[in-house]
Amino acid sequence: MFIKLYTAMCRFLFFMTVATVFFCSCQPSSNQPAAAAPETVQPAAETPVARGAYLVGIMGCHDCHSPKRMGPQGPELIPELLLSGHPANAALPAPASGLTANGWVALSADLTTAVGPWGQTYAANITSDPTGIGNWTEDQFRKALTEGKFKGLDNARPILPPMPWQNYRNIRDEDLKAIFAYLKSTRPVSNVVPEAKIAAAPAAQSKGS
Ligand code: HEC
Repeated sequence: MFIKLYTAMCRFLFFMTVATVFFCSCQPSSNQPAAAAPETVQPAAETPVARGAYLVGIMGCHDCHSPKRMGPQGPELIPELLLSGHPANAALPAPASGLTANGWVALSADLTTAVGPWGQTYAANITSDPTGIGNWTEDQFRKALTEGKFKGLDNARPILPPMPWQNYRNIRDEDLKAIFAYLKSTRPVSNVVPEAKIAAAPAAQSKGS
């Protein structure tokens, strides 16, 4: 009696299991077109320029390359000067002497210029203007961003801090292309950024002695 009941129960459970598996395996195929549709549509809608704008935003390029003015909530971007680098006409007083000798690094309030053991650097104009990257080739841009070559030229000096090019050296090429496409599409802003004041390297000086 028990054995019969047990066998019947087992059959029933087996049947239910098979039915469930069958039912579940049928489910996704009927749902698939609806679930897959948004994924296939979205990437096509994002142009390289739009992706470049997004990447420039999340990679913090504006932090240093976009001039800012002081607002009620602190520094805010100036829309018509986006990515135009340290303003040539900014009349900043010289940083306090002895600052870097005492181990400090200083940034201007808008973060477009910095003083440190490397000297003083000014965030570059990276708008589409000829005073920015308007005349650059994509290869120059690749060399600047992934090899830290100033102006993207082979024999140029290294790009100095605080430009964090080392963080970008493993960027995927499609992302680099998208950023370049976006920068080429930006509103041109004419601004010749001051030349960096490069400090003599202390290591090189002590080597000779
Ligand atoms: C923390 C500050 C900072 C951030 C963030 C930053 N930069 Fe820079 N960048 C600089 C400074 C300062 C220089 C100039 C360095 C020098 O003169 O050696 C520079 C130089 C460059 C140059 C070389 C310009 C030339 O004329 O050779 C390019 C290109 C550049 N940045 C692009 C970018 C892009 C694109 C991003 C975002 C993905 C970015 N930077 C993020 C500070 C920054």
